[in-house]
Amino acid sequence: MVKFLTLLAFCCFQLAYPQQPLYKQAEIPIEKRIKDLLKRMTVEEKILQLNQYKLGANTNINNIGAASNEIPAGIGSLIYFGGDPEFRNQIQKKAVEESRLGIPILFGYDIIHGCRTLYPIPLAQACSWNLDLVKTNSSMSAKETVLSGVDWVFSPMIDVSRDPRWGRVAEGYGEDPYVNAVFGVATIQGYQGTSLSDPYSVAACLKHYVGYGMSEGGRDYRYSNISKQSLWETYLPSFEAGINAGAATVMSSFNDISGIPATSNYYTLTEILKKRWKHDGFVVSDWNAIEQLINQGVAQDKKEAGMKAFLAGVEMDMIDNIYLEHFKELLAEKKISIQSIDEAVTRILRVKFRLGLFENPYTTIIEKEKRYLQPESIKNAAKLAEESIVLLKNENNILPISPLLKKIALVGPMAKDKQNLMGSWSGYAKSADVETIFSGMEKEFSNKAQLNYAKGCDFDGDDESGFEEAIKVANQSDIIVVCLGERRVWSGENASRSTLSLPIIQEKLVEELKKTGKPIVLILSNGRPIELERLEKFSDAILEIWQPGVAGGTPVAGIVSGRINPSAKLAITFPLVTGQIPTYYNMRPSAREAKLGAYQDKPTEPLYWFGHGLSYTTYKYSEATLSSPRIKPSEKLTVQVKVTNTGDVSGKESVLWYISDPVSSISRPLKELKFFEKKEIPAGNEVVYTFEIDPNRDLAYYDEEGHKILEPGIFYVHVDDQKIKFELLK
Ligand code: GLC
Repeated sequence: MVKFLTLLAFCCFQLAYPQQPLYKQAEIPIEKRIKDLLKRMTVEEKILQLNQYKLGANTNINNIGAASNEIPAGIGSLIYFGGDPEFRNQIQKKAVEESRLGIPILFGYDIIHGCRTLYPIPLAQACSWNLDLVKTNSSMSAKETVLSGVDWVFSPMIDVSRDPRWGRVAEGYGEDPYVNAVFGVATIQGYQGTSLSDPYSVAACLKHYVGYGMSEGGRDYRYSNISKQSLWETYLPSFEAGINAGAATVMSSFNDISGIPATSNYYTLTEILKKRWKHDGFVVSDWNAIEQLINQGVAQDKKEAGMKAFLAGVEMDMIDNIYLEHFKELLAEKKISIQSIDEAVTRILRVKFRLGLFENPYTTIIEKEKRYLQPESIKNAAKLAEESIVLLKNENNILPISPLLKKIALVGPMAKDKQNLMGSWSGYAKSADVETIFSGMEKEFSNKAQLNYAKGCDFDGDDESGFEEAIKVANQSDIIVVCLGERRVWSGENASRSTLSLPIIQEKLVEELKKTGKPIVLILSNGRPIELERLEKFSDAILEIWQPGVAGGTPVAGIVSGRINPSAKLAITFPLVTGQIPTYYNMRPSAREAKLGAYQDKPTEPLYWFGHGLSYTTYKYSEATLSSPRIKPSEKLTVQVKVTNTGDVSGKESVLWYISDPVSSISRPLKELKFFEKKEIPAGNEVVYTFEIDPNRDLAYYDEEGHKILEPGIFYVHVDDQKIKFELLK
């Protein structure tokens, strides 16, 4: 009787207060909500969730075949080129209030190094060795991104690249697997915060999975010849770290991996990513990458391409519309199963639920003045720019410019340029927001020195008519600061270059300026290492400022004046000449001593190695000490070094710790970076840096099957110019 009455009461309550379906009840565990929603969905609704269309004008000129599709209310995702939250909300309203089940759309966009407040390109960020600063900037970027109506960023790009002819080297964190891993993780932490459902969190996307940085000859979209052992040792670690850090999604890449395209590669997309690493988010293809399987010779038509990508492990189809067009047939032909579709939809819904999109599908609209370019954001961007500027050369300490020098010639095409300081992938940023080098210098040297400006020449072409004016202002000055570099479109996607040299017109300008006999400070803004064989000889000092974003002018000027002590070190090697490519610090050992097998016509040593960077102060490293000369695999080894600032200005020193393993079953790189720390050291002070070696993390290596191998024997730990021996016991 009691049961009956209880049931009766419940039914009455239900009639009076009809409950939301389970999947709409926020307090229900996500996995239960997914199951409830899935069983309500039709096949058509499920297939729609596996698709991503574009919304707004496609600003990426390299993206082909992007038809402006009519936006179906049940679409899974949109690439949002707009950045206008009101328009996003209008489209979202269609999905949430007009579609049958009200599944919110996931809005994604390429926010790579800032949304509207652009900070330095990722390659520059890595040279800062400051993970906290990168995390802070990523967090600031996530807030601006959410306020722009975007929930999901196609970032971080963590492709190890050792061929700077490839334009996308600008977008990653350089040549080292560990650096790409830790900076990728810092970026994810900034984007995703402590929870994806936090109001200003966005979902991250690890890209491009995997091996894209090995695109043959540095030419984009090409074949990548990668052995399985190299795949595990060099290209997968940054992605494994990103997955372990909770990255919500992954993007499959354009390249193939020794003949099997990354977008139809079951081994990487399912065996590794899902079975081994247990990734429970989803994979989106890169733009048109599914259809491109036809070009890559593994599919005869779109239908087969869609089937291969899906069966390999790509859950969402970016822009191709192939899943939408062919999945019903493939289901009918039993070439794909409804179970695999349910699994794919589950993964996509999981990210949407975790983001809280079902509870908060709309962007909170705040006034435009409060959305972007807030003082704190600009300050963070300037700080990261300051810490990513590398002092490559400083002959006779020509920098910082002596206060006795009262006339400074500021010349070159980059001096007053805004557009190109932004670099590639500039999100919703506007060049009008960019502070120029000239503007920074004007503020820095007002009442201290007179600036004499001349453009001198353009970035390319053969018009030398501006040289005369540049030489004139140089002759009127005590020192020349010449600002050169790359147009932003010379790096980034589909921006491969056959040489790392700057266009000859720029080199000629410096050659002519050199004839004035004045000291020359070369400032470079570029998205890749530059060939400096000739420019280096003309320059007394070289400052690599990369592409600093909106707030580079002041930090650059601060370093030139000495107000700021540069602290950056290279995260990518600068070859002396293009012909040395590939050249990187962690190469495998040669069969003979280095001078044998070297080039006959040019030096074999690069101009500046990974880790190179000068300071206005000097540091003295003590002899490193080991906690023990030998350890067991279960033990840790502590290595310490004391660093003293022996100069007269405070500085931030990054100590890089490497390991080498001279004898191993698989030949190991000459040395491998395993840890680093950046600390401020006031003039005259000493700071202790400690590296705790964990054998399984730092001494083991991957074999071709991805098994971690730890072998006893002699190892070395390298710090500064020291190489300290220790033994790993059985
Ligand atoms: C591009 C890029 C990828 C980007 C995507 C969406 O072609 O390869 O990095 O995220 O398309 O714009």
